Amino acid sequence: MTTTSEGAAAAATRPDLPELPDLPAGFSWGAATAAYQIEGAVDEDGRGPSIWDTFCRRPGAVDDGTSGSVACDSYHRWREDVDLLAGLGVDAYRFSVAWPRVMPAGRSAVNRRGLDYYDRLVDALCGHGIRPFVTLYHWDLPQALEDEGGWRVRDTAEWFAEYAAAVAGVLGDRVQDWITLNEPYCSSMVGYAEGRHAPGTAEGHGALAAAHHLLLGHGRAVAAVRSAAGPRSRVGITLNLSPAVPASDTEADRAAADRQDLMLNRQFTDPVLGGAYPPGFERLYAGVSDLSFRRDGDLAVISTPLDFLGVNYYYRVHVADAPYEQPDPALRSAFDIGVRQLRPDGLPTTDLGWPVEPQGLFDTLTGLADRYPGLPAVYVTENGCADLRDGPEPDPERISFVAGHLAAAARAAAVDDRLDLRGYFYWSLIDNFEWARGYGPRFGLAHVDYRTGSRTPKASYHWLRDRLRAWRERT
Ligand code: NOJ
Repeated sequence: MTTTSEGAAAAATRPDLPELPDLPAGFSWGAATAAYQIEGAVDEDGRGPSIWDTFCRRPGAVDDGTSGSVACDSYHRWREDVDLLAGLGVDAYRFSVAWPRVMPAGRSAVNRRGLDYYDRLVDALCGHGIRPFVTLYHWDLPQALEDEGGWRVRDTAEWFAEYAAAVAGVLGDRVQDWITLNEPYCSSMVGYAEGRHAPGTAEGHGALAAAHHLLLGHGRAVAAVRSAAGPRSRVGITLNLSPAVPASDTEADRAAADRQDLMLNRQFTDPVLGGAYPPGFERLYAGVSDLSFRRDGDLAVISTPLDFLGVNYYYRVHVADAPYEQPDPALRSAFDIGVRQLRPDGLPTTDLGWPVEPQGLFDTLTGLADRYPGLPAVYVTENGCADLRDGPEPDPERISFVAGHLAAAARAAAVDDRLDLRGYFYWSLIDNFEWARGYGPRFGLAHVDYRTGSRTPKASYHWLRDRLRAWRERT
C-alpha cells in the first residue's frame, strides 16, 4: 500500500469538511467489496468458471472489453486490503465468497483450497478486530449451474443452500454476520430480463422465475447457515432499493412509478419482509408469465424471520409512462414495463450520471419502517459514488456524498423509532471492476493502479479515518 501526498492527507482533515452525524455507540462502520470485482485469479487453486467469466467474453458485454480475471488481484494482495481497513479504523468489512471457488461445479464437491483463502482473510480481519460480514452470493453463479438452467430452475436454490452450509460450516466459528444474497433484483432482472449483466438474456417468465428462486434460495440458506454456523450467527439479505418518483402528477406517470416500484423494490421486499408478493404483481406480468414456478410453502421459506436487512442505496429513479418496447406480452422481457427513466434538469449527478439525492435514503429507510411492522435491524450495506478519474487526487465530491447520505440515514433513525439502524458500509474500499462498465468508474476510498496493483488512499479515505477517530472519541 502506498500513501497519498502529505497535501491530500492534510486537506482531508480540514475543519471545514463535514463531521459524521451523531449515531449511537455500537454503530458499525465498514467498507464493502465483492469477490468477482476484486479478487482476480479466476483460474487459480481449483476455482471453476462463473457466469461472469463467460459473459465478459461476449463482444460488447463490458464497456471497455475487460473482465474480472485480474481485477485488484486481491486473491494475492488481500493483506494490503486488510491493512487499508485497519488504517481506516473501520470495525466491519463486507466481502463476498465466490461460489465457484468453493464449489467449482456449483454443487457437492467442496474445493478446500478455495475456502482456505477466506479462512485466512477472516483470521486476519479478526486479528485486527474487524468484524466480517460475509455475502454468500454477489452474482458469480458457477457456470456449470447456469448450464443446467441457472436461477430459472428450482434446484439452484437447493444447491445454493448446500454451498451456504459448506461455507458457514468452516467460517462460522469466527463469522457471525451473514448476507445470503446481494441485490437479487440485479441477479434476476438485470441478468435475465434487461440482459445488461450475466447471463445476459432478455426473458419474461425465466427472469421472474429467477427472482423467485433466488428468494427461495435465500430462505433455504438462512436455515442452512443457522444450522451450520450455530445460534450465534446473524443472517440477513441485501436488497438494492430505489424510491420511484413519478415525473409528473398525471395518473399515467404515477401508475408508471408504481410499476417501477413493484419491479425494482416490492418484488423483493414484500415476499421477504411481508410473506407475500405485492398486490398488482400478477397484473403487471399477466401475459408475460403464469408464475407457475411458485409452490405452496415457498413464501413461508422466503419470509423466514431475519436478524437484519441490508439496504444498498445509490439513487432514486425518476420515471414517466412510456409505450412498451414489445407490444406482444408473450414476447416481452420482464424488464419492459412501460416505463421510461428520466434525468430531471438541475439534479446533481455523479460522473456516471447517477442522481445524488440523499433524501432517497431517508425515504427508503423510513418507508421500510412504515410498510413492514417488525422490521429487523437495518444496515446500509452499500452506498457510494463513482468518478471517472484515474488517479488518487482529491475527491471532494465523495466526501460530500458520504456525509450527505450519512446525515440522511442518521436523520431517519432519529425521527423514526421503528428503525433500528445499526451500521453503514461504504462502497467500495478500493476501486474495482464495475461489472458491465468495466474499470472506468471508480468507487474506491483507495485508488487502484491496475497496471501495478498498488493501492493509494484518496482524500476521502483520510477524511473518513479522521472523522471516525473523532466520532469514537465523542461517542
Ligand atoms: C451494487 C453492487 O452490489 C456492486 O457490486 C456495485 O459495484 C455497486 N452497486 C456500484 O454499482
